[in-house]
Amino acid sequence: MPSLGQLYPQLDTVELPEDLPYTQCSAFELRFLYLLGKHRLTGAQGDLVELGSGGGGSTYAAALGLSENPEFDRSSAKLHAYDFFRVGKGTFATEKFFAGGKAPEGQSSFLEDFQEVLGPFLDFVEIHAGDIWETSDPDEKRPIEFLHVDIAKTARVWTCVAERFLPRLAPGSVVLHQDFAGPRLPWLHYSTGALLPYIELAGPPIRSTLAFEVTEEIPAEVLRAVAEDDFGVERKLALISAVQERLDRDHTGGIPFRSVLELAKAFVLHYEGDHRRAWKIAEPLTSDEYLARTRADHFRQVKDRLPAPAPVRRSGVRRRLGRLARKVGLR
Ligand SMILES: C[S@@+](CC[C@H](N)C(=O)[O-])C[C@H]1O[C@@H](n2cnc3c(N)ncnc32)[C@H](O)[C@@H]1O
Repeated sequence: MPSLGQLYPQLDTVELPEDLPYTQCSAFELRFLYLLGKHRLTGAQGDLVELGSGGGGSTYAAALGLSENPEFDRSSAKLHAYDFFRVGKGTFATEKFFAGGKAPEGQSSFLEDFQEVLGPFLDFVEIHAGDIWETSDPDEKRPIEFLHVDIAKTARVWTCVAERFLPRLAPGSVVLHQDFAGPRLPWLHYSTGALLPYIELAGPPIRSTLAFEVTEEIPAEVLRAVAEDDFGVERKLALISAVQERLDRDHTGGIPFRSVLELAKAFVLHYEGDHRRAWKIAEPLTSDEYLARTRADHFRQVKDRLPAPAPVRRSGVRRRLGRLARKVGLR
C-alpha cells in the first residue's frame, strides 16, 4: 500500500474523464481523490466517508478510483456521501450542482441529479441526505478509513464533524481537509495543530486540500478539546503557528499557506471580538499578492469591525490659544 506522499508524482500526469460532474474541487484535488481510491483505500479498515458531496464531482473521482482498485470489494464496502443535496439559505450548496447548472422552477433538491451522475457507482455509494447533525449517528463507533471534509464551513458543522467523525479515526486513517486555504475557517487549522503529534502530513497541500494520515491513536482528551473547542485564544494561535512551521506553498506553488494561516489567526481574533488585534495581524498581509488578489473581502470583513477612532482632543494649550485668537479677532 503506497504512502500518501508516494501518490504525489502521479498528480501531474493522471488523466480523468472530461465529463466529470460539476465540482468545486480543482483538477489536482480530483486527481488526488481518484489516486487515493485506486491505490490506497480499500474500505477493509473502516468506513469511507465524504462530508460535503455537493453535485458529486469529488464523490465521482473517489468512486471511479475505487471501482478500478482490485483491493476494493464493492459488494461489501461503502462510500458514504453526506450532504444537504439541496440549495437554500445556509446550505452552502450552489445551483450549479443541478444537472442543468441551475435549479428547475420550484425545485430545491439536486439529489436526483446526484444519483443520476453517480449511477455507475450507486451500488457502493450510500447517500445520507439532509443536515449532517440529523443524518449522522452519534452512537456510530465503526472506524473510519477515509474522511474527506468539505463541509465544515461553520463552527456548528465543524463541531458535528469533530464530535461524531474524528473519534472514529485510527492509525492508518486518511483525512482530507478541502478548505485548508480558507482563512475564515480557523477551526480546521488549530484543530490540525492539536492533532500534529498523532498524524503525518502527506506533503504540501494539494491546492486547497491538506491531506494527512493518522499515525498514532488520538488521545480522548485531545478529541474532547477539539470537539468542545476548548482552547484559549493564545493556544489557538500557537497551534496555527505549529502548522505554519510545517507548510509552505501548495503542490502547484500557487497558494502561500504561511500567509493564509496567518490570516486565519486574524479570524480567530475576529471571532473572539478582539478586532484591533485581528486587524494588526491582517493589515500587513494586505501586501501579500495572493491574499490581496483572492481575499479582499476577508480584509474588509476584519477592518470593518475596527472600533471608530476616538475624536482628537485638542490640548489645553491649543484650546487657550484658540480662545485668545478669537478674542483678538484673528479667527
Ligand atoms: C463546497 S460544497 C461541496 C463541493 C463538492 N465536494 C464538490 O466536489 O463540488 C459544500 C457542501 O457542503 C454541504 N453542507 C454544508 N453544510 C451542511 C450540513 N450542515 N449538512 C449537510 N451538508 C452540508 C452543502 O450542501 C454543499 O454541497
